[in-house]
Amino acid sequence: MNDAAGATGRDWLTSTWPFVHAHLPSVPAQVIEVGCGSSGGFVPALQSAGYQAIGVDPEAPEGPEYRRIEFERHDGVEPVDAVVACTSLHHVADLDEVVDRISSTLVPGGGLVVLEWAWERFDEATARWCFARIAATDVDHGWLSHHRDEWLASSAPWGSYLQGWAREHRLHSASDVIAALANRFDTQLLTPCAYLFPDLEDTSEADEQAATDAGVIQATGVRYVGSLRSA
Ligand SMILES: C[S@@+](CC[C@H](N)C(=O)[O-])C[C@H]1O[C@@H](n2cnc3c(N)ncnc32)[C@H](O)[C@@H]1O
Repeated sequence: MNDAAGATGRDWLTSTWPFVHAHLPSVPAQVIEVGCGSSGGFVPALQSAGYQAIGVDPEAPEGPEYRRIEFERHDGVEPVDAVVACTSLHHVADLDEVVDRISSTLVPGGGLVVLEWAWERFDEATARWCFARIAATDVDHGWLSHHRDEWLASSAPWGSYLQGWAREHRLHSASDVIAALANRFDTQLLTPCAYLFPDLEDTSEADEQAATDAGVIQATGVRYVGSLRSA
């Protein structure tokens, strides 16, 4: 996707699927993906792994396994065993409403697996590290090229540019997303992770992790697993 809002695409989904899969209940189980995106997100992988899966997103593909509507406006779902949300919660209009809705969509003790982008940690050093690794063949002008060009055109300090962009797009920070989840879920796992590598040339997940470990860049991905707290 090219809306300057972060990494998506098959490489990202392929690299994060093992984490998602490892934290789902055993099959048979029902899973809803909130914000599966126009490519269908994890729904095909979920189905191949034996789950009954539905993807809910206004931009979802056509098909019986997709609902093209905002998750909080989607009715008539039987409680499911698990919910997955991959870089979608920072986009929703009303975070608490969506988290409440996820809670009411789950069976008691149901599981939640979230991947998020901590855009608030995308500092200037991290941005410059990325901009130096944008593929020369980035002909379709991906989200990182977009940020580089918009920032240079703005003549603003990176921090002001980033905050202005996030405000304009009404993005929730990852820390606000995690805080909203903590109201309803018991946290089982919360860890930073690599996020940028799928959009960088000749840069693996291990390369990004090494740069993070060396303190050169910030980890801008977040992995979260929670279970629905009993009322
Ligand atoms: C960055 S994309 C992520 C797509 C996909 N999960 C992936 O990782 O490739 C964010 C998606 O969240 C969706 N979205 C935003 N608000 C939503 C809502 N209230 N309910 C469902 N999806 C929503 C957008 O339409 C968009 O497809």
